[in-house]
Amino acid sequence: MSSQACSSSFSCGFRLQVFLVVVWFCTCGWLESVNAATGSVRVGNISKVEDAEKFLIYYGQTFKVIKNGLDGESYLLIQKNSRMAARMKYCTSRIKSFVIPLSNYSIDTDFFPVSFFELLGLLENLKGITSDMVSSQCVLKLYEEGQIEMINKSEPQQLTQFAAHFIGNSDQARSCNFATFLPSGEGTPLQRAEWIKYLGVFANLETRANQVYDAIKENYLCLTKAAASKTTTFKPTVAWMQYNDGIWSFTKEPYKLKYVEDAGGVNLDNSINKVTYNISEPDDLDEFHAILCTVDVVIDETYTTNPVAYTLSTFLENIYVKDQSCFAFLTHQSLWRYDKRTQNSISTLDWFDGVVSQPQLVLADLVEAFFSSGNYTTTYFRNLSKGLDVFFVQIKRKNLRFSLVHITELCLRSCRMKQF
Ligand SMILES: *[C@@H]1O[C@H](CO)[C@@H](O)[C@H](O)[C@H]1NC(C)=O
Ligand SMILES: *[C@@H]1O[C@H](CO)[C@@H](O)[C@H](O)[C@H]1NC(C)=O
Ligand SMILES: *[C@@H]1O[C@H](CO)[C@@H](O)[C@H](O)[C@H]1NC(C)=O
Ligand SMILES: *[C@@H]1O[C@H](CO)[C@@H](O)[C@H](O)[C@H]1NC(C)=O
Ligand SMILES: *[C@@H]1O[C@H](CO)[C@@H](O)[C@H](O)[C@H]1NC(C)=O
Ligand SMILES: *[C@@H]1O[C@H](CO)[C@@H](O)[C@H](O)[C@H]1NC(C)=O
Repeated sequence: MSSQACSSSFSCGFRLQVFLVVVWFCTCGWLESVNAATGSVRVGNISKVEDAEKFLIYYGQTFKVIKNGLDGESYLLIQKNSRMAARMKYCTSRIKSFVIPLSNYSIDTDFFPVSFFELLGLLENLKGITSDMVSSQCVLKLYEEGQIEMINKSEPQQLTQFAAHFIGNSDQARSCNFATFLPSGEGTPLQRAEWIKYLGVFANLETRANQVYDAIKENYLCLTKAAASKTTTFKPTVAWMQYNDGIWSFTKEPYKLKYVEDAGGVNLDNSINKVTYNISEPDDLDEFHAILCTVDVVIDETYTTNPVAYTLSTFLENIYVKDQSCFAFLTHQSLWRYDKRTQNSISTLDWFDGVVSQPQLVLADLVEAFFSSGNYTTTYFRNLSKGLDVFFVQIKRKNLRFSLVHITELCLRSCRMKQF
């Protein structure tokens, strides 16, 4: 496998793994060759947490321990073929034990990024989901084929029938087989993506988790360098903002601000970025408009139950302007939303799933949004000036190669690709 670091001239050599990542993603596949059900992890076959700050992994000979720093839970993971597996079982409010690799598992799918399991090739052992509100075509397909069953959250015994039940929020009651998975609690896009290692540990798939993360990180950093080299006179000023019940606010979520920096933009200054603006208060409205006049790119995060119906005119109504000429982001048609990939409704936006595990795709979108080439088809972001541009994830869609196409376009555009 050849690799070539990102050079200062931004001709980037992508590792083969970049393509593997996307291929796994696209084919709903799992690797049969690495049999997760056998073999214990040997020393040297481990994951090291490099960027994430909210979890830790410790290795013993026949067991591993994960500490989740966000909810204070620890998981003692005991290798199936060890003597300890039959003898030890922990289930306290802070420590739970699991025998690994897990033979089966279920997921509470509300806002849960199942794409991590997909990238690891672990969907084969997924047996239960709590709703079909997922944006993963693979999961939807397996559900339709009957390989995954629907379990009812209100029936506790249905949640305890599998070796593990993964949940994505830390405030629900927990049975002994519950494990939390909280990548969104991290501060940067790469830190969120590194949580693939957390899941890899449950399946003895640390090698694969490391490869996926390394490929994503390499790709992400390469794009960051490429973005930094864009030769525009000024970096674009970018605002993430949302409207709710008469009030506009600017987003302060750290990972979003980090995306802006990494894609070559600058965030609104904290000093002018007041928390909220009430559209019915003339002073607020004036101040809000003044800020918008300084912005080059707007990302409108306003919640809607129907992305298709949310158009440029919806936005214009919400910002209450008569004369648009002051607003550079409108003149230059640089107004975006992140609801391009969805399964029917807002609550199944892939923004809450695929984005968490593959931040390089978001970064590529933002580079296009900030420094329009016109050549790159975005995955998650839609340009509101473009009219209808929503991609519905559908259960029966045969061709799952979209991501591969996007990555390839991207490489051709900004980086020189090695031939394999
Ligand atoms: C789930 O279980 C609850 C409580 O038993 C029941 O009232 C509800 O109808 C069930 N939902 C479905 C979709 O079966
Ligand atoms: C899940 O795996 C456990 C062993 O870990 C087994 O006892 C159980 O029967 C399996 N459940 C299903 C529904 O396959
Ligand atoms: C662990 O590492 C060994 C080589 O050291 C490799 O053969 C094996 O496939 C790895 N196991 C997993 C589950 O990745
Ligand atoms: C916004 O301002 C209007 C007019 O002053 C007021 O009636 C309304 O309650 C305010 N909204 C909020 C959420 O504060
Ligand atoms: C866009 O694509 C065309 C044709 O493939 C190419 O000539 C042009 O250089 C590309 N533009 C950018 C900005 O990459
Ligand atoms: C947004 O879409 C419009 C209409 O297709 C296009 O003219 C404009 O260049 C796009 N904006 C960016 C920043 O790509």
